[in-house]
Amino acid sequence: MSDPRPAPPTVYIETYGCQMNVADSERMYGTLVAHGYAPVDAPDGADVILVNTCAIRENAETRVIGRLGELRRFMKPDTVVGVTGCMAQRLGPRLLDQARHVSLVVGPDGYRALPALLDGARRGERFSATDFDLEEHYEDVVARRFEGVKAWIPVQRGCNYRCTYCIVPTTRGPERSRKLADVVREVEQVVRDGLTEVVLLGQTVNSYHDGTHDFADLLRAVGAVDGIRRVRYTSPHPNDFSDRVIAAMAEVPSVCEHVHLPMQSGSTGMLKRMLRRYTREDYLACVERLRAAIPGLALTTDIIVGFPGETDEEFEDTLSLCRAVRFDDAFMFKFSPREGTPATRMPAEWTVPDEVVAARFDRLVATVRGMAREGNLARLGDVTEVLVEKVARDGALLQARSRDFKTVMVPADAARIGEYLSVRLTGTTGATFTGLPVDTVATAAPSGGSPPRAPLPVAAI
Ligand code: SAH
Ligand code: SF4
Ligand code: F3S
Repeated sequence: MSDPRPAPPTVYIETYGCQMNVADSERMYGTLVAHGYAPVDAPDGADVILVNTCAIRENAETRVIGRLGELRRFMKPDTVVGVTGCMAQRLGPRLLDQARHVSLVVGPDGYRALPALLDGARRGERFSATDFDLEEHYEDVVARRFEGVKAWIPVQRGCNYRCTYCIVPTTRGPERSRKLADVVREVEQVVRDGLTEVVLLGQTVNSYHDGTHDFADLLRAVGAVDGIRRVRYTSPHPNDFSDRVIAAMAEVPSVCEHVHLPMQSGSTGMLKRMLRRYTREDYLACVERLRAAIPGLALTTDIIVGFPGETDEEFEDTLSLCRAVRFDDAFMFKFSPREGTPATRMPAEWTVPDEVVAARFDRLVATVRGMAREGNLARLGDVTEVLVEKVARDGALLQARSRDFKTVMVPADAARIGEYLSVRLTGTTGATFTGLPVDTVATAAPSGGSPPRAPLPVAAI
């Protein structure tokens, strides 16, 4: 006998941008599953296709526009296509005009209304919903997490800084923090679901304050959850590293020895034009306080090249601050003007020519990568704990992560995904490592046979 119930409508969400968007997509899936939708992992023939977008740089948006065009070919006559996230918030109804096959535009605070909006869209209506809701943390939504060994936990939404290049305050609205007890409850649930690593998310996550508790309290409370082995957070702002926060980081054993500390520029003049609210010296002092408190701390950063008015000297200051700090790694970006941000109102003659930006960018990348490589070579032979995350892209090895955020390729069976292993770092490409479980090294060495498989090391001990 055939099943009399109609098949549930299917939904596919494609995610761009930062981890906050990944966490939001998990909440969107959660909301829609609670309303009877079935998630699918490909757009072909889905009843609903949502594209969760990023607006941080122009190329992030160009990519989405291209992708929206491509998605047409996966649409059935009654498929609903929606755009969510930061680009949706930024463009609102303009997106409906630009892309006729899009019937829904929903900003980051509007996902609770998705089921109702989708009902309307399936009746042929077209909507743009971009109001901010300063109370919205999706507390009662059960996130439907993507596969993986760590959980993204938003603890704060929005941003109260006003860096002059940045679109985020426009797309995410003012800063608000979740209640500490609500974050702890979600972390407890994550542990019950079998995960042992959490990443606390916020635009300036260490400015977290729920009216009673600050970020130091939050780190201690999350670190105290039974079963949690690793706590990470991203991205902190240098000005919000109080002594309390640094002490909590140093004292809570599960908080990993890694800080992603966006620097943006090494020139005090540039930092001022960017409205970052710290000087070169302040940044360095923050690094020193962190390193003094946390032995073996790894530091990564974000840097922008070619911000308006950037002189050769100011760029040299960025290189020299990188050399002074010796970052483990960096995300480096060419400045991208964002509509409505103060940087777009700076004098036209401050625009740095494309070829100058390109040359500076290449030098910066070479400097950062060179130092990262030296640092990584010095680590060869060390034994470190890694959490196995997934099968590596080439399919032959597993990809694992150390507490200090190094990527380590490990030859092991896929059954070990989710396990903690002790590995010896045996090779590095300069950026990533190969490592062997220490018991493998110990048993393989005396046998005199062929050495354990450690493919692709550029430099090996
Ligand atoms: N809240 C985080 C940054 C989020 S955006 C912080 O304050 O550190 C991630 C990174 O994108 C930023 O650190 C910055 O380096 C880069 N970025 C932001 N706006 C940009 C723009 N208009 N052009 C180029 N890079 C930009
Ligand atoms: Fe953007 Fe600055 Fe806020 Fe970071 S702190 S999100 S760079 S405005
Ligand atoms: Fe992009 Fe929005 Fe994140 S602009 S970086 S998706 S907060």
